[in-house]
Amino acid sequence: MKNGVIWQDIDGNDIQAHGGCIIKHGDTYYWYGEHKGADNCPGTTRVDVIGVSCYSSKNLRDWKYEGLALESNKDDPESPLYYKKVLERPKVIYNAKNNNFVLWAHADSADYVFGGIAVAVSDTPTGPFKFLYAKQPNKQDSRDMTIYQDIDGTAYLVHSKDWNKTMNISRLNDDYTETDGFYVSVLIDQEREAPALFYKDGMYYMVSSGCTGWLPNQALFARCEHMLGKWKLIDNPCRGEKMDTTFDGQSTYIFEVDGEFYLMLDHWHPNDLKTSGYSILKIDILEGNNLRVNWADEWKGI
Ligand code: GAL
Repeated sequence: MKNGVIWQDIDGNDIQAHGGCIIKHGDTYYWYGEHKGADNCPGTTRVDVIGVSCYSSKNLRDWKYEGLALESNKDDPESPLYYKKVLERPKVIYNAKNNNFVLWAHADSADYVFGGIAVAVSDTPTGPFKFLYAKQPNKQDSRDMTIYQDIDGTAYLVHSKDWNKTMNISRLNDDYTETDGFYVSVLIDQEREAPALFYKDGMYYMVSSGCTGWLPNQALFARCEHMLGKWKLIDNPCRGEKMDTTFDGQSTYIFEVDGEFYLMLDHWHPNDLKTSGYSILKIDILEGNNLRVNWADEWKGI
């Protein structure tokens, strides 16, 4: 699969799973993302919400379309899932206590003023997920976000707040369906979005983008020895040509395979979002807990 362009599933159709995440359950990987498979609304950089798509694969290369895990609502303008609103960056996490899957996504009004999250649950990874609610977590605005499960099993919503000025790490309840009221604000006034996290050997890492909408900018990584500690921005992890625009991409998720970590990027095409591309790039952890992401022309899977 050529990095930077849109990929195809095993039926030859474009993979519509933007702003997504990849999780493993059993021996299968599941890729969830924004289904943007329609033309942009004329004269805009938006596609009406179709829903959250789900793909499955055993090797991270041959992807089977499993359908919409969560579908938009076409009839009720009051619904948070109404197709004229915004549903972005879906992230799914497995809850071992309840043996179910919980989907979180950035839910917003068409003008991005609402700034909240939507939560849905399913007993199976492919769904359909049952929509629970949408709101502002801890009564704070929430835009770009991810869900991160800590090594002790505690899960967190990590989200840009204060109009993307600051990042909140908001703890979830043990069902993973609600924030439990406890949160810390990190990277205060650093204006980061598109957070993607991982942990390795006593250190937490967060790769994020700056705030330039669909246009690419420089990624930075932050790190901290404690999930809820004082995170610090360190450096651009990317090297080589286009390193200052994250290879013309934007972070969306980091997943692990056999002790190695991989960064998923979106390559947005604002004027024709359905053609936006993907990359998966290996993350190297260097001496001194520095991250390095080199461009690779191809993602071969495993
Ligand atoms: C980006 C964000 C995307 C989308 C876009 C809309 O900054 O990362 O998920 O919200 O803005 O302009």
